[in-house]
Amino acid sequence: MANLGIKKLNEIVKKTLNVIDDSKGAIFDILENARKEVSQLKDELQVLKAEANRIMSQYKTLEGKLAQSKKYLASINSDLANSQEQMEAAYKTANDILVEIAVCRESERQTILRRNDVERRLQNALETVAKAEKLVTQVGTVFDYLSGDLSSLDEHFEKTESKRLLALRIIKTQENERRRIAREIHDGPAQAMSNVVIMTEICEKTAELDMGKALIELQKLKAVVRDCLKSVRRIIYDLRPMSIDDLGFTPTIQKYIEKFSAEHNIRVDFKVNSEEDCIKDSNIALAVFRIVQESLNNTYKHADATHVSIQVECAQNSVLLRISDDGNGFDTNILSNSLNKEDSGFGILGMRERVELLEGEFIIDSKINVGTIIRVKLPYSLQEET
Ligand SMILES: Nc1ncnc2c1ncn2[C@@H]1O[C@H](COP(=O)(O)OP(=O)(O)OP(=O)(O)O)[C@@H](O)[C@H]1O
Ligand SMILES: [Mg+2]
Repeated sequence: MANLGIKKLNEIVKKTLNVIDDSKGAIFDILENARKEVSQLKDELQVLKAEANRIMSQYKTLEGKLAQSKKYLASINSDLANSQEQMEAAYKTANDILVEIAVCRESERQTILRRNDVERRLQNALETVAKAEKLVTQVGTVFDYLSGDLSSLDEHFEKTESKRLLALRIIKTQENERRRIAREIHDGPAQAMSNVVIMTEICEKTAELDMGKALIELQKLKAVVRDCLKSVRRIIYDLRPMSIDDLGFTPTIQKYIEKFSAEHNIRVDFKVNSEEDCIKDSNIALAVFRIVQESLNNTYKHADATHVSIQVECAQNSVLLRISDDGNGFDTNILSNSLNKEDSGFGILGMRERVELLEGEFIIDSKINVGTIIRVKLPYSLQEET
């Protein structure tokens, strides 16, 4: 289901990447065209500037000519000896120069208009280039982000999925555990209590007839009640080793290890670096106890080991736990692959989750035919327990 979700998401991201890639191509085209236009307009501007300079110098020349022709006119005006033709020719020359100046002004005006227009178009084209360049960078970043971070997106979803599966497993295990406890109470103490009732009735009846026999029955009754008490204590202990709170962490774990070692014929060495009980926080003490319990169970169930070594080191800010066995080891890759399998165990997953909840570190290392090592670091809680 979640895999489907991730697959779908991958497809969507891939399609998005294709669209972005196409858009990137289109933006590149726009950028290329805008750059071409900039270069054309710059050339045009150069031509117009040259034209303006040419007009300017022509203008200057004409102004000079006009000044001369005005001077000449003034000189022949004052000299009455000049003929009518001379006068007319001088006027015509001056007039021609004025016409040329007017034409020159007009072409200057036209050139200025064209230059303004080209400058405006150049400004627009430069803005388009800047925008397209920025867009190319941005689209590139989005492209890289989406293509580069796809795997971390997968990872994120896998983590979320593994948390969901773990929660489901925890609920399932809780239900199994309740069923197991109910069966244990039903087969053990509840059965024993109904026996006690029957035996008490037998005792009552026997006591009326034969006191000696009744005493024997009472002894049997005592044994049943004692067994019953034992199994109730065991059930309670399994639920939560209360001795952790009463006796403290070290004696409780020592007792558990001795029992395990005797029952399964596996040698277990246990070392703590501190005389006094260093684990004050009962959440941490219980976590270490459960990790030892699960690791020993795994060693017994899977490792075929002869020796287990458990070390607890109370450091300044944290508790360090190291559990190693000399068993047949296993490929730890199966742990990540087992997530989606319904029937795979969740002992190690549960240990890791418990440690992570307490903001600690959990490392499992295993070598085929050499053994398995679990290392845990649990920081002392900063908050006082309530
Ligand atoms: N000490 C070990 N030596 C060898 N193999 C191990 C050891 N601990 C774990 N394994 C392997 O890792 C697998 C996963 O262990 P895990 O504790 O998560 O599940 P489980 O023990 O199979 O089931 P559960 O703990 O839920 O009862 C085991 O099935 C086993 O193959
Ligand atoms: Mg297990």
